[in-house]
Amino acid sequence: MDNLNAIELRNITKRFGPVVANDNISLQLHKGEILSLLGENGSGKTTLMNMLGGIYFPDEGQVFVDGEEVTIRSPKDSFAHGIGMIHQHFKLVDVFTAAENIVLGLEGDKGKLDKASIRKAVREIADRYGFDIDPDQKVYNMSVSQKQTVEIVKVLYRGANVLILDEPTAVLTPQETDKLFKVMRNMKKDGKAIIIITHKLHEVLDVSDRVVVLRKGQYIGDVETARASQQSLTDMMVGHSVSLNIKCPKAEECKDRLRVKNLTVLDKEGVKKLDNVAFDAFGGEILGIAGIAGSGQKELLESIAGLQKLQPGAEITYISPEGEEKSLVGEDPLDIIHDGVLLSFVPEDRFGMGLAGSLCINDNVMLRTFRRGKGNPFLDKKYPAGVAEKIVNDLEVVTPNNNRIPIRRLSGGNVQKVLVGREISCNPTLLMTAYAVRGLDINTSYTIYNLLTEQKMKGVAVIYVGEDLDVLLELCDRILVLCGGQVSGIVDAHSVTKEEVGLLMTQFRKEGAENA
Ligand SMILES: Nc1ncnc2c1ncn2[C@@H]1O[C@H](COP(=O)(O)OP(=O)(O)O)[C@@H](O)[C@H]1O
Ligand SMILES: [Mg+2]
Repeated sequence: MDNLNAIELRNITKRFGPVVANDNISLQLHKGEILSLLGENGSGKTTLMNMLGGIYFPDEGQVFVDGEEVTIRSPKDSFAHGIGMIHQHFKLVDVFTAAENIVLGLEGDKGKLDKASIRKAVREIADRYGFDIDPDQKVYNMSVSQKQTVEIVKVLYRGANVLILDEPTAVLTPQETDKLFKVMRNMKKDGKAIIIITHKLHEVLDVSDRVVVLRKGQYIGDVETARASQQSLTDMMVGHSVSLNIKCPKAEECKDRLRVKNLTVLDKEGVKKLDNVAFDAFGGEILGIAGIAGSGQKELLESIAGLQKLQPGAEITYISPEGEEKSLVGEDPLDIIHDGVLLSFVPEDRFGMGLAGSLCINDNVMLRTFRRGKGNPFLDKKYPAGVAEKIVNDLEVVTPNNNRIPIRRLSGGNVQKVLVGREISCNPTLLMTAYAVRGLDINTSYTIYNLLTEQKMKGVAVIYVGEDLDVLLELCDRILVLCGGQVSGIVDAHSVTKEEVGLLMTQFRKEGAENA
């Protein structure tokens, strides 16, 4: 009896208290297919997949693997049925090597294998699907993309026939994403079935055969990818027609807000991360920063925020809306915040910087308002509570409450909305954001673009470090391109082409630095 479905979910419901995260969902994953699971933040994608991964157990409904009904109560059960789930947050042991992590927790035959045979098995999997992996490399020496590779090889080593990837590309560069997609296509050729969650619609269109859309915990429908477009998918996801144009109005007057000259920063090994960087930023303008990952974007924002050690000769001058000039070099980061410079930095790990996962939304807002000197945190809870309520309403943060639930219990996109909303609520005069829409669905991303544009129209100087060139071109007024820590060009966002920016990202042209 040949069943065409690798996985079938039938009438699955999952509740968290009053929240119905999955409402009577039925979904099929065909054998040898790549299926995209699409939906706004909080629509229930991770919850649904977690029931295949053995993290949650459904309140109602049935799960079938290869046509047989199964019960999955733990990750172990999930593995036993050939399901391998790659979570958003990796679960590797830092001090172990790739190979050690791959066999970690395996008892019996496979766990007892000697090092040489494990290495051989890992190499075989790598060759078969086209992974780049060094079995002997320690996890703490790995990039995010390498860690992800270890996670995938780990589930393949355990014999997974079905792979579930929860937002795997959120942390990857475009090049790394291409590599992952190649591997996924090889796995598909080999008969594996794959479910991928991603918010990037061009990725959905690129890699998947079929798309299933969820909205607010409900199954909206499925569509063959060949018959879908970014517009049709967005409309399905949001439930009404959405305009996919970013507005970029011109501010009335642009005022000098920041002057940077001779900015050089070395890393621990003495390698130049920023090399003689110079540029101006204006109030009433969004200055985009483009560059391949690790070209100095992080160091640039951190230098302005007072978080980097600068080489002698660096000049960073802040010009207030009233026209007063002040050097930020050597200033305390907290004083810089008081000057109205706000570094809103959304790192790969949302809790690494900025937010305290165990605190509720109100208290996380308070962490910032307190530092802004707005009252005593132990006496004045009203002010942050008001700000928090506005953020939750304006950005449509899905949360049971603002004052009790620890923020890490919210879905990733909702956490990010709080982070970005909190920075904007502090009325900055210079607002810096890095990867502000990473992991956000398209509707929420547009909300953030609008918020940044609103700030610009109020006269704020916005510095926007972004990954998506289409967005940079539409949202920004000018784009500064970094290449290997140097400014390879500063271009007008409305007249430049994507290809020209791409070229500047990879090819350093000294004369480009003067083309302001
Ligand atoms: N452990 C949990 N406790 C309470 N609520 C949860 C939990 N996990 C998810 N939720 C809620 O379930 C809904 C769906 O979340 P999730 O599956 O993470 O969405 P997605 O992955 O589509 O962004 C959200 O409203 C979220 O807040
Ligand atoms: Mg999720």
